[in-house]
Amino acid sequence: MRTELLIGGKWGPGSDGQRITVFDPATGDEIASVAAGAPEDASRACDAAADAQPEWAAEAPRIRSEILRGCWQILIDHTDELAEMITNENGKPLADARGEVAYAAEFFRWNAEEAVRIHGSLGVAPSGGNRILVRHPPVGVVVMITPWNFPAAMITRKVAPAIAAGNAVVIKPPSETPLTALRVADLMQEAGLPPGIVNVVPTRRPAEWYDAAVDNQATRMVSFTGSTATGRRLLRRASDRVLKATMELGGNAPFIVFDDADLDAAVAGAMTAKMRHSAQTCTAANRFFAEAGVADEFVEKLATAMGALTVGSGRDEAVNCGPMISSAAIDKIDGLVKEAVGAGARTAIGGTPVDGPGYFYRPTVLAGVAAGSPITRHEIFGPVAPVIVFTDHEEVVSWANDTEMGLAAYVYTTDLTKALHTGERLAYGMVGVNRGAMSDPAAPFGGMKQSGLGREGAGEGIYEFCETQYIAAQW
Ligand code: SIN
Repeated sequence: MRTELLIGGKWGPGSDGQRITVFDPATGDEIASVAAGAPEDASRACDAAADAQPEWAAEAPRIRSEILRGCWQILIDHTDELAEMITNENGKPLADARGEVAYAAEFFRWNAEEAVRIHGSLGVAPSGGNRILVRHPPVGVVVMITPWNFPAAMITRKVAPAIAAGNAVVIKPPSETPLTALRVADLMQEAGLPPGIVNVVPTRRPAEWYDAAVDNQATRMVSFTGSTATGRRLLRRASDRVLKATMELGGNAPFIVFDDADLDAAVAGAMTAKMRHSAQTCTAANRFFAEAGVADEFVEKLATAMGALTVGSGRDEAVNCGPMISSAAIDKIDGLVKEAVGAGARTAIGGTPVDGPGYFYRPTVLAGVAAGSPITRHEIFGPVAPVIVFTDHEEVVSWANDTEMGLAAYVYTTDLTKALHTGERLAYGMVGVNRGAMSDPAAPFGGMKQSGLGREGAGEGIYEFCETQYIAAQW
């Protein structure tokens, strides 16, 4: 287990000697401590990245590609070790953690294939006077801030395209799950990544850390995954230096079930969209809209499926709903449920926290929730499914779009025309049609409106980490 900072290829303590305690959310027990970086360590890491980056950018794309492919292989070879680490510090069930390792590794394989395909263009100016040559060099040094809900995959989704394009990166992993971040970086070095290309600096002083990283003259870009509120603050600060930015922010996903849907498929999709990784994903279905003709049956079947989940420590292979990340998360979820019930919603199942130790909430279905009520306006980030009945197709699209968020949406119907017509009118970056899971390194992940800026994955993901340079050439 790596527990020190990684700067310029060397492991060491933070300059003020502080440490971060890591807890197991299934028990509340301390499981490890890691070095905490001070703001000057963040800046030192940016300098180390700046020193290493030009040589890395000058490598043949094929060399970078093969190192990335090696990173994919080494993560796959360490699946069990990494999955156990993820479960210990994040809480998610082992099966989900293994799935996360495969997902995280795939970003390396996908971007190994993209590294050799960063294409520019050559055109003739309309005047005929010169050629227009367009190329895409790397941005340089990229500062990355990643969340605790996917301790491995939210790092590799950023790092893989960034280094494939020839950048060097400085990562601030979350204080809840730094162990996986440090071990993934360790394995990347073992796979042949040169020192200084990936630097990892956990911290207890995130705001000062960020300011120091942004103020470092080498930094040219920030990439963040987390809440919209934090994203706004980071963007404001990054604007002082006109840094490039990508932001993967909050969601408030609608899940629409039309009368003609295959109801069993809709319930299975709802379970995936809601409960994947213990309901702590920004793509999680947050509001369920069921058409009047199927609403009661949908609620009943969903409550049966939620009630069949086994809640407990993710280390138990029988468990498929692990703990929430903290007691604060439990308080927030419970407050939203109590408020909805107080306003007239019926609890079809669940509705209360589980007594400690650990931070567990019973899988919950709330029926008769009013559109626009508080629980439909907050990102629940927990195992609670509020169901709203609709009768009018125009109305459900407008309810679904009545939010500042626009990350993921889901539509269930057997009518393809209705599915696509609805999908095109939903102001969301990703729409699942008869599908409860959409995340794929080969697809563009990202949101519209206040859910984010830019896309991760797919062909365009790598270009987020590139500049565009135009050369006017005459010959
Ligand atoms: C997230 O919750 O931020 C990411 C979810 C995913 O990649 O599927």
